[in-house]
Amino acid sequence: MNGLVVASTNGQVGIRAAIEVLRQGGSAIDAVIAGIELVEANPDDHSVGYGGLPNLLGEVELDASIMDGRKLATGAVGALQGHQDAIALARQVMESLPHVLIVGEGANRLAAEVELRPVDLLSADAERTWRSRLDSPPAGHDPYIAKVRELVGSLSRDPELADDHHGTVNFIARDRHGDIACGVSTSGWAWKYPGRLGDSPIIGAGNYADNRWGAAACTGRGEMAQRLCTAHSVVTFMRFGLSLDQALRKAVEDLQALDDEYRSEVNIIAIDKDGAHAAASTDPGKTYVYMGDDMDDFIEADRVHVGP
Ligand code: GLY
Repeated sequence: MNGLVVASTNGQVGIRAAIEVLRQGGSAIDAVIAGIELVEANPDDHSVGYGGLPNLLGEVELDASIMDGRKLATGAVGALQGHQDAIALARQVMESLPHVLIVGEGANRLAAEVELRPVDLLSADAERTWRSRLDSPPAGHDPYIAKVRELVGSLSRDPELADDHHGTVNFIARDRHGDIACGVSTSGWAWKYPGRLGDSPIIGAGNYADNRWGAAACTGRGEMAQRLCTAHSVVTFMRFGLSLDQALRKAVEDLQALDDEYRSEVNIIAIDKDGAHAAASTDPGKTYVYMGDDMDDFIEADRVHVGP
C-alpha cells in the first residue's frame, strides 16, 4: 500500500519530510509530527509556532492536537507559551498522560518537564503586525472585550487580512499499513482574547481520525468548527454512507448555514478509509497539497468551494 500525506497549503514546507518518514517505513503519526514540526519552525508562517501572531496582550499562545486513527488515541495542548513544539507536546499528552487536553500553565509545565526547548515565540515581524492594529487604545466599559470584537469583526470582513491572521496547519497521513493519523497546530487568531482556544486542540472540532472511516482537519475560524464539530462530522458522514465529496460538501453547507456575526472562512481537508483525498472551503480559490510516496513532489490542488 502506498503512503500518502495531505496538508493545508502552508504544509508545503513539511510535506516532503513527512513523506520521507513513510518511505522509510515510519508510522502515520511520525509522518504528521515530522511535517508539522517544520511548519512550526517556519518564521514566515504567522499562524503556526515560532513567529505566530500573538493574543491581545502580545503573548503568542499555541494550540495543537494529534489523533491516531488505529485506536482513537489523542492528545492536545492549548494556550502553550514559550515553546515552539506544540505538536510534539500534544504527542506527549497522548502517549504519556492519562489525559487528552492540557492547557495554559499546565502545558507550559509539561513542556519544561519533558525538556522541550524554550523559545521566545514572538518574532520581530509578528510583533510589528500585532502593534499595527493597536494604535487606538481599547475603549468602552470592558475595553479588552470591545477591542477583540472590533478586531475579529474586521478580520471576518476582509479576507485578505484574515488569510494571514487566522491560518493553521493541518496534516493527515496514511502509512504503508493503512493506518491514519491527523495533526493540527496553530497560534490561533491574532489579537484573540487571552486563553481563547479555537478548534485546533478540540478533538472532533478541528481534528478527527478513525482508521475505519477516514480523517478530517480544519483551518479558518475555529469558533465555527467548534459549534458544528466539523472534523468529526465529516468522518461520521462517511461512516453513515456518504462519499468523501458528499461528506465535505455537507459539512461546508452546515458551516454556511450558521448564523454568526463574525462569519468567516473555514477550510477542511479529508481522506477516506481507502486513502482517497479531497478538500473543501467556504471561500472560493482555496487550495491544499498532497503527495504520495511514489511521487517526485507534492501537488497543489483546488479545494471544492461550497457557497452560501
Ligand atoms: N482554526 C484555528 C483557530 O481558529 O484557532
